[in-house]
Amino acid sequence: MAEIVFLLNGETVRVGQEPATRTLLDWLRDTRGLTGTKEGCNEGDCGACTVMVSTAGVARAMNGCLLFLPQLHGKAVRTVEGISGPDGQLHPMQQAMIDNHGSQCGFCTPGFVVSMAVAHANGASDWDDQLAGNLCRCTGYAPIIRAARAAAASPVPDWITSDLAFTSAEILPGVRGQAAPAGPTFAMPRSSDELADWYAAHPDATLVAGATDVGLWVTKQLRDLAPVAFLDGCADLKGIAETDDGLRIGACATLAELRVAMARHHPGFAELIRRYGSAQVRGAATIGGNIANGSPIGDGPPALIALGATLHLRKGETRRAIPLEDFFIDYGKQDRAPGEFVEGVTIPRQPDRLKCYKLSKRFDQDISAVCGCFNITVESGIVRAARIAFGGMAGIPKRAAHVETALVGQPWTEDTVAAAQDAWERDFAPMSDMRASADYRMTAARNMLRRCLLADAGTPAQVLEVQP
Ligand SMILES: Cc1cc2nc3c(=O)[nH]c(=O)nc-3n(C[C@H](O)[C@H](O)[C@H](O)COP(=O)(O)OP(=O)(O)OC[C@H]3O[C@@H](n4cnc5c(N)ncnc54)[C@H](O)[C@@H]3O)c2cc1C
Ligand code: FES
Ligand code: FES
Repeated sequence: MAEIVFLLNGETVRVGQEPATRTLLDWLRDTRGLTGTKEGCNEGDCGACTVMVSTAGVARAMNGCLLFLPQLHGKAVRTVEGISGPDGQLHPMQQAMIDNHGSQCGFCTPGFVVSMAVAHANGASDWDDQLAGNLCRCTGYAPIIRAARAAAASPVPDWITSDLAFTSAEILPGVRGQAAPAGPTFAMPRSSDELADWYAAHPDATLVAGATDVGLWVTKQLRDLAPVAFLDGCADLKGIAETDDGLRIGACATLAELRVAMARHHPGFAELIRRYGSAQVRGAATIGGNIANGSPIGDGPPALIALGATLHLRKGETRRAIPLEDFFIDYGKQDRAPGEFVEGVTIPRQPDRLKCYKLSKRFDQDISAVCGCFNITVESGIVRAARIAFGGMAGIPKRAAHVETALVGQPWTEDTVAAAQDAWERDFAPMSDMRASADYRMTAARNMLRRCLLADAGTPAQVLEVQP
């Protein structure tokens, strides 16, 4: 592997001679002896491997088990060993964990401490959300949350703020104009143009964006992915731009970034994203990856389809735009040619009517059994337009076209919802699996439409409170 350079616990490290799909977790433990970072699940679920990754003034908690070394190029990484100060001073969160008895066996503790230090650095205090990606099997969460609250007002230590202030130019002098690291089996393009050229020449390659899916192909399926291209350096695929017509979301915008943008425009979508994986997953996962993986239970596509999103694809110099729902052809089959990649997705500007409902066995950090998104426009009590899309109801994210037709032009009432009853079977024949039975899915989907009606009538259902 050509040299990857990053800051590790305040020191510049240069990594060569490693496979491009070596995970940070394995490298830290096997090569650097930094065994504070633990391996629990090795698939993004437990947070024992959490590290702090800072770039452009933003600190993120990330799962070291789902980070390949090239994804760290030019960034600052802090493991639990670097969360304490250079002279061994404890971070306020570490001291608070001691004071509040926040640790028993201690296996989860390094991951918790890192997540807490990241939230602390970012001034976040919504602890249930911040720590949803960290599992503890013995202490129980109350002492951990007490510790987090106790230290929240302490100043951020210097050694943490220095990571936030750091710029990649400090460790990558003269990087402008120089080629990004690349090897015979991997590339790190710095723009969509570079990616388009490389991918056209390597159409069978694997693209890696956030690696929250692809990482598991390596850690669980032990697959060799070569050749691979890491998209993180493609600056023009990042970010979310507001235009007169709506929003343009770059393929490499993370779910964490999308959540912030959606809170302003479509709060129901933002609330859905809050339940998307964990802080660690949302900080890595991209919307391009969430669409391109073609999963029938991905949470992004149903909301985007309900909003009438357009998908932008590029192969070489050829670009095309299609309605997002047309991208999903069949289970495991998408409308994407070899060498073609997702550049972004656009959402038309519109008044917010979106309601998103996610059903999963756990509130946090769980994949949807059913995810229903409803964009129903009502004027003078009559349904004027309806876009309804589901995940978990078919082999692809899919619109409820017959249900939409049954609603449009009708009064927005219980009678209309009841009259649409038969349309559901024409739209969906869901399967039974470990997440839910077919009957459950169908009943839940129908009930979501009622829930939507009730919300419009002023009685929204709260999933966080059980009400008599
Ligand atoms: C613990 C955990 C929890 C999760 N929870 C959820 C959840 O609640 N909801 C949910 O929807 N998903 C969830 N996921 C799945 C995963 O986070 C998403 O599918 C994610 O959005 C994938 O994005 P990524 O950037 O990580 O993609 P990657 O893993 O990098 O790539 C995924 C696929 O997309 C391709 N790809 C990536 N970018 C592009 C591009 N620009 N053009 C073409 N192809 C591309 C890759 O080649 C690969 O085939 C979870 C995953 C984990 C590990
Ligand atoms: S080891 Fe469990 S999330 Fe990484
Ligand atoms: S203290 Fe044992 S897993 Fe948390």
